[in-house]
Amino acid sequence: APRLVVAVDGPSGSGKSSVCRAAARELGAAYLDTGAMYRAAAWYCLDQGVDFDDEDAVAVAVEELPLSISTDPDHQTVTVGQADVTDAIRGSAVSEAVSEVSTNRRARSLLVDAQRRIIDEAGVVVAEGRDITTVVAPDAPVRVLLTASAEVRLARRGLQLGGEQSAESLHRQVLARDAKDSTAVNFTEAADGVAVLDSTDLTFEETVASLVDRVRAVR
Ligand code: C5P
Repeated sequence: APRLVVAVDGPSGSGKSSVCRAAARELGAAYLDTGAMYRAAAWYCLDQGVDFDDEDAVAVAVEELPLSISTDPDHQTVTVGQADVTDAIRGSAVSEAVSEVSTNRRARSLLVDAQRRIIDEAGVVVAEGRDITTVVAPDAPVRVLLTASAEVRLARRGLQLGGEQSAESLHRQVLARDAKDSTAVNFTEAADGVAVLDSTDLTFEETVASLVDRVRAVR
C-alpha cells in the first residue's frame, strides 16, 4: 500500500487511543501510540532509579532506552529490554512520572526521531499523541485534533481505569498532567490546517467513522 500518515493529537481522555486503534483496524493500517513511548521511557527511568531532577540523567536514560513497540492495532505490546511493560505503563506511578520525560527537550527530540522512523517503515499508519500534527508528521495528509469537553474526558478516563482510584484523585491527576504537558506542547488548539474533531456529543462509533471518512477522502 502507498504511504499514508494519519496524524491525531489530543489531551488525555479524549478517546484518542481507542478511536485511533479502531480506525487503524478498519483501514488495515498500522497504529502508533506515541504516548506509550513516553510512558515506557518513564517506566525505564523509574526502573533505573533515575533522578527526575537531573535533566541530563533523564535524557541519557532515554538515549539508552531499549524500547520495542508493536504497531499492530490488534496486539499492542510494549517491551523495555526483556520486560513486557504493556500493563505497567498504564499504572499511576508511570502516569505521575511521565511528564518528567515529556518536558525534557532532549528526551522529546530522541523520541520524536524514533517515532518518525517507525512511521516511515509503517506505510499506512495512524499515529496519535500530542505533537504528531505539528512536530512528528506535520506533512501528513490527514491531521486531526481530537477534543472533548473536560467533563466528558474525565468521565471517559474514569471508565477506562475502572475504579482503581477515586474519581477526585483521578481528576486531579489528569488535570495536573495536562497542565504540565501543555508547557512542552500545545495540544489544546489546532494548528493551521489541522481539523478539529470534537467528540463531546458523538458516540465512539461515530467518532471512529468521522476519522475513517477523512482518511478515505484523501485516499
Ligand atoms: O496519551 P497518553 O496519555 O498515554 O500520553 C502519556 C504522556 O506522554 C502524556 O501525558 C505526555 O506527557 C506524553 N506525550 C507527549 N507527546 C506525545 C504523546 C505523549 O508529550 N506525542
